[in-house]
Amino acid sequence: MNSTALIHHRYAPPAGFDAPQAPVYKASTVIFESVAAMRARDWKSKDGYTYGLHGTPTTFTLEAKLATLEGGKHCLLAPSGLASIACVNLALLKQGDEVLIPSNCYGPNLAMAQNELSRYGITYQSYDAMNPADLEAKLSKKTKLVWLEAAGSVTMEFPDLPQLIDICQERRVTTALDNTWGAGLAFNAFDLGVDITIHALTKYPSGSANLLMGSVITKDESLFHQIRRCHMHFGWGVGANDVEAVLVGLHTLSLRYTAQDLAARGLATFLQTRSEIVQVLHPALQGSIGHTNWQKICDNKAAGIFSVIFKSEFTQTQIDTFCESLKLFKLGYSWAGPMSLVVPYNLSAMRLEWPAGVARGHLVRFCIGLENATDLQQDLAQALQTLHARGS
Ligand SMILES: Cc1ncc(COP(=O)(O)O)c(C=O)c1O
Repeated sequence: MNSTALIHHRYAPPAGFDAPQAPVYKASTVIFESVAAMRARDWKSKDGYTYGLHGTPTTFTLEAKLATLEGGKHCLLAPSGLASIACVNLALLKQGDEVLIPSNCYGPNLAMAQNELSRYGITYQSYDAMNPADLEAKLSKKTKLVWLEAAGSVTMEFPDLPQLIDICQERRVTTALDNTWGAGLAFNAFDLGVDITIHALTKYPSGSANLLMGSVITKDESLFHQIRRCHMHFGWGVGANDVEAVLVGLHTLSLRYTAQDLAARGLATFLQTRSEIVQVLHPALQGSIGHTNWQKICDNKAAGIFSVIFKSEFTQTQIDTFCESLKLFKLGYSWAGPMSLVVPYNLSAMRLEWPAGVARGHLVRFCIGLENATDLQQDLAQALQTLHARGS
């Protein structure tokens, strides 16, 4: 939330040496002074070190910074954003429990419930995040965890997060928010009352599209210990060089987030004027799905990612040709890196139902990088011309 606090959240430098960037400590083995010291150390505590998998000064530094950024207290690193989701699920759910997942969530979250959690006797239901009554109706005694995501993946609807969280709090059900889109900058998840956040550090915190990492953050100590125990038992370690890269990325997180937001909004507004497109899905644009919910909590901040719906009169081949005709936007998954990306999605295959409020047509998602926004707009304009080429 506060970039000054983030930059000045420092590690303790060794005597006689101080630098703005924390050093990298690499270890599996950590050496003890005595057998007594070895026996006295408890891996569950962060007061000291036992083994590389349980934490090093480098991982603890990143964890402390991320907890500060998020307004939480405790943080754990995981090998990817998806591994963070798995860590929360496996720490909190057991046979006979149910997890509720928004219908517009990051797809692999749902796939994990369908294909993996089900093998352990854990059931799931998908709920409509834009309809709090649907969540309320699906909560039962079995519900032990509710996932939240804002904005939703690909279709970018922004839910009424405070209301969804209130409903869960009333029923004393734990909430976990995938806060990758907000990056700890757009809104303060813990002020809204969420119990757990996860992030794909792969996206904005890294910012370079060169690594995979995730985090799990909580405010509650006992919840944290429950998750940390599970994290340890599954052995979800992360590499020190990647941790260092995220630490470097954090210095510019807020600047990149703002720049990518500004460029994305400009391009989304440009695409709104184009006759080939029936709808632009971006929560900061007036009239978009959940725009007023976004306005209420996001302090005019948004991630640099949005989707558009092309008129259904175009063929899928024409849409694919449009995507391939882009020169600066590259075909590739993920977002928040330096290079702009484009993906044509088959929305019908991704969702159980066509999402309410989303126009029928061909969905294409754009992730805006750090290129010059005028160059990106020209690239979009030239690729749009392919849709009008004779015989296309
Ligand atoms: C919203 C969201 N959450 C989680 C993830 C998973 O992150 P990772 O690729 O690091 O597993 C992604 C990746 O695209 C994502 O978009």
